[in-house]
Amino acid sequence: MNQTDFGHSITAPYRIAVLGLGHVGLPTAVGFSRLGWDVIGADEDATKVDLIRAGKAPFFEPGLDDLLNKSLASGRFQATADVTEAIRAAMVVFICVGTPQREDGAADLSQIESISRTIGRNLNGYKLVVEKSTVPAITALWIQRTIQRYSVLKASEADGDGKVSPPAPESEPADFDVASNPEFLQEGQAIENFFEPCRVVIGADSERARGILCDLYRGLQRPMVVTDVTTAELIKHAANAFLSTKISFINMVTDICDAVGADVTRVAEGLGLDPRISPAFLKAGIGFGGYCFPKDLRALAHLAEQQGVDCSLLHAVERINAQRVEVFLDKVRNSVWVISGKKLGVLGLAFKPNTDDIREAPSLKIVDALLKEGAELRLHDPWAMPAAKALYPPEAGRVTYCESPYEVARGAEALLLLTDWDEYRHLDLGRLRDLMQVPALIDGRNFFDPEEAHQAGFSYAGMGRRGGGPYARELAMAGQPRPATPVWAGMGVGLNG
Ligand code: UGA
Repeated sequence: MNQTDFGHSITAPYRIAVLGLGHVGLPTAVGFSRLGWDVIGADEDATKVDLIRAGKAPFFEPGLDDLLNKSLASGRFQATADVTEAIRAAMVVFICVGTPQREDGAADLSQIESISRTIGRNLNGYKLVVEKSTVPAITALWIQRTIQRYSVLKASEADGDGKVSPPAPESEPADFDVASNPEFLQEGQAIENFFEPCRVVIGADSERARGILCDLYRGLQRPMVVTDVTTAELIKHAANAFLSTKISFINMVTDICDAVGADVTRVAEGLGLDPRISPAFLKAGIGFGGYCFPKDLRALAHLAEQQGVDCSLLHAVERINAQRVEVFLDKVRNSVWVISGKKLGVLGLAFKPNTDDIREAPSLKIVDALLKEGAELRLHDPWAMPAAKALYPPEAGRVTYCESPYEVARGAEALLLLTDWDEYRHLDLGRLRDLMQVPALIDGRNFFDPEEAHQAGFSYAGMGRRGGGPYARELAMAGQPRPATPVWAGMGVGLNG
């Protein structure tokens, strides 16, 4: 009997292997170990494993280093580069390998397939194999078949990936279940999301698998959705597609706000107070990026098309998202006129705050377009500059990485906010203005208060916030100042704030 950090007792001796120690695998592995389970994490990348063993997460995730060190010290978590060893040592095997995107938009499941073969060849007793990576519906069926097939292969018959392991002894029949337990971790909040998930989704087709997975999460005392494997797989893709849809919806409304002179932040507030809508994921801006939403949306669309289901809604979501870059660039042109030769300051490069991840970051698409148009960029991000430097190396007169936001502002002809880091929340706008050649602020995340920016002497353009769109242009052309307060203020309309 083992007393856990969560005050519950663990009686069942499940040993967990987590295969793949990336943004999903590592938080999951240390999370389970803090719940009291004995966890072995495996990744073929030996350099990554060495870092983890030394108590250092290979990427930035708030709170992860601390949790990792506690887990290592407790002896309930160890990391290995020997995936086979991890599989053989555990009864519950979580698959957390990458599922990148193929050219045609479908998920590339080659890593899932490869790990399933390795699991098949190393079945040394009952195992519960759990998909945690985001995969399209019916992937579990393929995992099941692959494990079954390779568990009966002789080592000499196994394919040549150079990692032939001894097959399970003939006397041990392949005894395993495949289940789905999709992850809903958000980068930057992964630890919090692991310990306080809004729900745990368990997809299992056998009582035994269901029982084990419910046991693993019981200590969290969070709502559980227990269903069949295929339904669980679909819940994950549908969740990401739905959240992306909310973002594209509000971004479409943003364009309308810009056109008619309304304020999208107030529209979102007015929508979000309706509990049927909720305020979450209604933040307008330069669009969604990251490793998950763009590829998961395409993978779901691909699956739907394969099945003959009309998924034009998903294509519209993707199209609206892609348009954000051009909408933002228009705001830049509206401010500086000709981009070529302009010195522009960029605040934020990560695809969202609290991560050093720049994969599919809309900010980088903007950086790319600005460089192509001949801008001179001064860039800053609290964590993502090393990753960005690998893509856009420093180059005199073209790309300069700055130590601070104030350095970014030095000599700039406009300041572009692309990632809403908390670190930028309390910037001294007056100081920024004094450092700039031209005090123009183009806010891709509606992060700054337009009034404060104006008071500090900036011209301000947000996304759907009166100031950047055609309405503002018309006012400017008609020689009228931008209204400091909403046009309907003082009309006797009941307004809060
Ligand atoms: C997303 C989901 O939120 C997680 O539940 C899921 O587990 C994860 O994908 C995954 O599939 O692994 P993540 O990609 O870490 O998590 O980031 P989000 O916080 O969802 O943000 C995604 C993008 O949408 C970011 O670029 C963010 O800036 C943008 N966003 C988010 C908006 O533009 N507006 C919003 O209101 C919210």
